[in-house]
Amino acid sequence: MVMTLTAYEKVQKVLINEPKTWLITGVAGFIGSNLLEELLLLNQKVVGLDNFATGFQHNLDEVQGLVNEDQWQNFTFIEGDIRNLDDCQAACIGVDYVLHQAALGSVPRSIADPINTNDTNISGYLNMLVAARDAKVASFTYAASSSTYGDHPALPKVEDAIGNPLSPYAVTKYVNELYADVFSRTYGFKTIGLRYFNIFGKRQTPDGAYAAVIPKWTAAMIAGDEVFINGDGDTSRDFNFIENAVQANVLAATANDEAKNQVYNVAVGGRTTLNTLFSALQENLRKNGVDYSQEVVYRDFREGDVRHSQADISKIQNSLGYSPQFDIVQGIEKAMPWYVTSLA
Ligand SMILES: NC(=O)c1ccc[n+]([C@@H]2O[C@H](COP(=O)([O-])OP(=O)(O)OC[C@H]3O[C@@H](n4cnc5c(N)ncnc54)[C@H](O)[C@@H]3O)[C@@H](O)[C@H]2O)c1
Repeated sequence: MVMTLTAYEKVQKVLINEPKTWLITGVAGFIGSNLLEELLLLNQKVVGLDNFATGFQHNLDEVQGLVNEDQWQNFTFIEGDIRNLDDCQAACIGVDYVLHQAALGSVPRSIADPINTNDTNISGYLNMLVAARDAKVASFTYAASSSTYGDHPALPKVEDAIGNPLSPYAVTKYVNELYADVFSRTYGFKTIGLRYFNIFGKRQTPDGAYAAVIPKWTAAMIAGDEVFINGDGDTSRDFNFIENAVQANVLAATANDEAKNQVYNVAVGGRTTLNTLFSALQENLRKNGVDYSQEVVYRDFREGDVRHSQADISKIQNSLGYSPQFDIVQGIEKAMPWYVTSLA
């Protein structure tokens, strides 16, 4: 019987046979450390850059425990800051593929502190573009965001139809796309932007005022604390499990030139309300031995939040061969044991 490999399986095979050197900025963060794990398991050489603004040494330590010694030897960590051009230049030396993840995430953080968000997400991003262009890397893939859709009412979201940004964070992520486009026109430096829709999974921190909803609620439920829903609970999101986002990055980095100078939605194409999410987490925790029976507490809507979000993923499916392997239910099932072990 002839087995047909998926686009991702084919790329994985090529990479194992011909290892490349990758730079992951934001490597100590949630998405960065998951990219690191996958690339080291594929025997790639990886340079990581992070200033630990919102990332953690324990994320790197966890990855070390999941790969073998030889694979870990393929990793070089640079503690540095993308707001510093020298750090970006040092990190780009000898690199084939850049996966630029470093940024200050969170809509509310950007509303509280737009200057710092701007410095990292726009000036830092621009430093990385310049450093990567000058180092003549083979590809540059960056973390864009579904927040760029802003107040555009259409559902599902199609890449070309965006509205007005609703937060400083959304402005920064849109400016990233504008700079990427200008770098293609002006310098012929072609990039790929991945508009992530609510990614979740292991190593996404539940701590701090700006934690994402899935780790925050899961941690609260494990601790027996109150769970708050901002608004009526009908707010919806296209939650996407981390392994799908990792696949999108690897496909983007290795894509041919025609697929470049583009942005792509990275999601599943589903829509889950916060009320449904709460029930799904509650049910899954029960399967993992945690019984949370408190009522959820509703409070005001949060400033800057988009009401509904759902992606059309046909562009990334057609151009990059992306094929999400996990829907939200499968993703929660896979992520939950990590939360239960790490947070208990
Ligand atoms: N998680 C999501 O659902 C989501 C959605 C849309 C976009 N994104 C984007 O994806 C990227 C990764 O997000 P994440 O969820 O892994 O967040 P994260 O906070 O876990 O990771 C970001 C990493 O960047 C590092 N960093 C921040 N400022 C830096 C600086 N000045 N210099 C060097 N490193 C710096 C942090 O220390 C952290 O390790 C970000 O660009 C974020 O905006 C994430």
